[in-house]
Order: sequence, then C-alpha cells, then structure tokens
Amino acid sequence: MKKIFVTGGQPLQGSVRTSGSKNASLALLPAALLGYGETVLENVPHIGDIHTMELLLNAIGVRARLLPDGRMFVDASRIETHMAPYELVKRMRASFCIAGPLLARLGRARVPLPGGCDIGTRAVDYHIKGMEALGAEVRIEHGYVEAHAKGLKGADILLDSPSVGATCHILTMACLAEGKTVIQNAAEEPEVIDLANYVNAMGGVVRGAGTSVIEIEGVKSLRGTSHRVIPDRMEAGSFMIAAAATGGDVCVTDCIPDHVTAVILKLRDAGVDVEIGPDWIHVASAGRPRPITAKTLPYPGFPTDMQQPLTSFLTIASGTSVVTETIYERRFKHIDELCQMGADIKLEGQSAIITGVDRLTAARVTASDLRAGAALIIAGLMARGTTEIGGVEHIERGYENITAKLSALGATIGCFEEGEDTAYARACG
Ligand code: EPU
Repeated sequence: MKKIFVTGGQPLQGSVRTSGSKNASLALLPAALLGYGETVLENVPHIGDIHTMELLLNAIGVRARLLPDGRMFVDASRIETHMAPYELVKRMRASFCIAGPLLARLGRARVPLPGGCDIGTRAVDYHIKGMEALGAEVRIEHGYVEAHAKGLKGADILLDSPSVGATCHILTMACLAEGKTVIQNAAEEPEVIDLANYVNAMGGVVRGAGTSVIEIEGVKSLRGTSHRVIPDRMEAGSFMIAAAATGGDVCVTDCIPDHVTAVILKLRDAGVDVEIGPDWIHVASAGRPRPITAKTLPYPGFPTDMQQPLTSFLTIASGTSVVTETIYERRFKHIDELCQMGADIKLEGQSAIITGVDRLTAARVTASDLRAGAALIIAGLMARGTTEIGGVEHIERGYENITAKLSALGATIGCFEEGEDTAYARACG
C-alpha cells in the first residue's frame, strides 16, 4: 500500500505544466468506439482512470494503447463484444459511457451499473432515459443495464439537471442515430465542447456544444481521426490553490485560463494575486487569505471538483468562510481529516463553515476520493511537520505525476510503499 509523505511550510515556487484533461479524455475514449479506422488522441494523461479505460476498451476487443508520450491509439473498426466486464466498470463511473456507443454500433449493450468515487448517489437515470428516448429498450437486471435497439432514432431530450456525463453519453450515441437529436438543459462544461469538436472531426454534425441546447444530426458512420485533448482545468486549479495556500509564487503553464475563471475569481476575492496570459496563470500570495464564500454549481459556476482543495486553503483564512456543495451530497469526507490537522470546520447541511486558524499541523490522514486527496496534499503542504496520506490509489486515478510536479516546485513530498518510510525520513534529512 502506498503513502504520500509531505512536509509543509515551504512556499511553492516555479512553473508547472498542466497535463491533458482526465474528464475530457474519459468522454472522448468511449466516442472513439463510434469510428472506423484509427483515432490518435494526443495529450492523454498517464493516470489510473485512463489505464482503466484502456483495459476496458481492450476487454471488448478494441485495439487501444496509451504510449509514454501521451498519444493514445484507438482502432474500433472491430468491436468483439457488447458486454463490459464488471470489475472494470465498478472501478470507474465514466466506464458506463461505453454503453451508448456499443448500442449505436452493435445494437446492444450489457454494462454493469457503475462504481467510482464515493461522493454521492451518482445515479445513471438520465443516461438510461436518454437511451430509451433514442429508441432503445432498456432493462436493469442483476446489477446490469441491458439495452437493445434496431437502429437509434433522434429525439428531443430534456435533462432534469445539466449532467456532464449524461450530456456526453447522449451526444455520443446520437451521432449515429437517424435524424436530429436536441439535448435541452445540456451541460456547458469545456469537456463537452472538446467531445463535440472530436466527433465533428470524425465526420459528425454537432452544434451548440458549450451552450445549454445541443443539436446533433445523425450520420451513417464516423471515421477515426486525430485530436489533441484540452488541458486539465482541475489539475490547473489544484496547482493554483496549492500555490496560494503555501504563500507561493507559481506559473501554471499550458492551460486555458478561461476554463478556470471561477477559481481565479475566488482566489482574487481571498486576496491572492492572479495574473493571466494566453495559456498561463501566475499565482502569487503572501499572508493569510481573506475569508470568502463559495457555492459549487455547474459550469461556469465554481466547480464541485475544486470544493475540497478550496476548503483546505480557507482553513487558515483570517476569519470565517462558508463553502456550499450543491452537486454531491457526500463530498465532505475530507473535513474530518482536515480537523485532525487542526482545522476548525463545522458541517451545517451542505455547507462547511470554516473558521480560520493560525496554521495546520501534520497528521496521519486518508484520502477517501480523488479531490479529497488533492485537498489533503494541499493541507500537508501548508502544515507544520510531516503529514502521511493514505488512499493514494484515489489520487493516482486523476493526477499525473503529482508528487514529482510538486517536488519540482520545491515541495518536500514523496510517494512510498508502506515500509519505505525510513527511506523518506533519510531523504528529508
Ligand atoms: N445525476 C443524476 N442522474 C444521472 C446523472 C447525474 O441524478 O443520470 C446527478 C448526479 O448524481 C450528481 C449530478 O447529477 O448529483 C452531477 O453528475 P454529473 O453526471 O454531472 O457528473 P459526472 O458526469 O458523473 C463529471 C466528472 C466529475 C465532476 C462532475 C460534475 C467525469 C469523468 N467526471 O461527473 O469529476 O465532479 O462531472 O462536474 O467527467 C472528478 O474529476 O473528481 C469528478 C468526480
């Protein structure tokens, strides 16, 4: 079992490159199943969730391979089976989104109900209603979704809330449906735009991505193509918050500043100096942050994925901050861990009431999910002493080389197998 050890108190300094987007890659890879011929995606991150998706594509007989340079080759000219293996789909919610492409290509799909980070109920009812609206017959039996269709037909679909996954999944299926599909109340996240750009390059016809109404004209077939994945806005946001939290001076490069406007504005509210260029963001901070309020909302609101890192940052504010989570009902497991590190946080309903303390102190803590992991690393960078973080497998699902990137910014951080702690102690002197 791996642990991350981080010794706090060092302001982060220097520049750090943003990797390719996890969530965009996880939307593009199922869509690659629609195409005949080879797709080459560039800028795909080497992280646990992408490795799971690679295994899943291989498991249904599709040739998919991620190279060390971040290029991922997928050739779905042939798909051997409509059945997705339980162990892989249970590992990651995004794997469920191969159901639609299988249905569109093979006329049937058998995919288990998904697992993933435990942050809330995370239903898939919109996905299933979307399949049914496009003409599929869907049954849920023994924990599996079984869907059949003799050709999908375009439809008008209204999402009850703007789900990113359901928007991407329905958009993908609709590309091969007969006629026009309109998704109302669609998610407007940049990952949806990246997906639309990709399927349009494959020969699809998608309009309106990035707005709340997306129109898809079905086509008979799509072809493989090449596409560069957008930068990971959550990774960029995590480094920005880490820089601010340590009183550091960091340039986050190779990112799209427009995608993290909400994070930029909240950091500025807290008194952090943030400058932006065409593809970089410079964050400099000194002294304690001012207390702020933040509420998670669909894009362009403040992202739920940055709620946990922001909470860590605000633990040392010069007053009381309120952070409200409206997307997931259980995305608060980091709070007990932060309190063990000396934070003063009370949960009232869906709001964390954070009363700033002078400083955090190191403790043994465990990451319960990916972004809780980022929050604990940030807290460890802020704290006096050496923090030991378990649950590293969650962090590795979504952050590429996070300890190496933070080390390059001057952090004292390392990831070790249990039992190697002494090596770490020696490394730290
Ligand atoms: N929802 C339903 N029914 C559905 C689908 C969603 O009720 O059929 C609800 C969910 O229960 C949740 C809300 O809608 O309360 C948002 O879910 P959404 O479908 O938008 O989330 P997702 O597509 O499963 C993606 C990201 C998440 C990110 C959310 C919100 C991927 C692979 N994951 O999830 O990222 O938090 O959008 O922005 O794109 C992460 O990266 O750490 C992460 C969890």
